[in-house]
Amino acid sequence: MDLSDGVTVRSATPGDFDPIVAVVDDWWGRPISHNLSRLFLDHFAGTSLVAELDGTLVGFLIGFLSPDQPTHAYVHFVGVNPESRRTGLARHLYELFFDIARAGHRTVVHAITAPVNTRSIAFHSALGFECSAPVADYDGPGVDRVVFTRQL
Ligand SMILES: CC(C)(COP(=O)(O)OP(=O)(O)OC[C@H]1O[C@@H](n2cnc3c(N)ncnc32)[C@H](O)[C@@H]1OP(=O)(O)O)[C@@H](O)C(=O)NCCC(=O)NCCS
Repeated sequence: MDLSDGVTVRSATPGDFDPIVAVVDDWWGRPISHNLSRLFLDHFAGTSLVAELDGTLVGFLIGFLSPDQPTHAYVHFVGVNPESRRTGLARHLYELFFDIARAGHRTVVHAITAPVNTRSIAFHSALGFECSAPVADYDGPGVDRVVFTRQL
């Protein structure tokens, strides 16, 4: 799919792991790459998306259809190059993922973020996600998370 500014979006492949993991700490502005294992691209590339401009990575979404919760889909990571932000690219990636989820008969999309990530909270709110209060110890002792939920 082509966006008006020349950005193209395609399905991810396992080979996208290396270029993605190389940029996430920079794009997030904090160490985050430890949360992105190769398994996500090895096993969920078919439901994940890569955005490129002139062949260079400018955005991605890593998501999957829950194997255990047949009505649920989950977005693990979404990121956009700082230079390409506020152009609607992440919204576009999410809308494509919603289409993938609907095609898989999913009715709910979940994601989580750290309470410090106010940008992510603002973004998910703008896309119609319900945002929980921070859930204490969600991902283990001292690891609080905000939970996002959107009905499709
Ligand atoms: C969060 C992120 C993915 C948003 O990407 P983006 O392409 O800039 O988002 P979009 O342009 O599609 O924004 C859609 C809407 O979300 C909201 N939004 C996005 N970024 C925002 C920000 N920094 N502050 C407030 N609202 C924001 C706005 O309502 C925006 O619409 P508008 O530009 O018309 O006002 C991007 O900032 C990013 O990569 N951040 C670092 C990684 C990260 O935190 N990922 C999320 C957790 S996994």
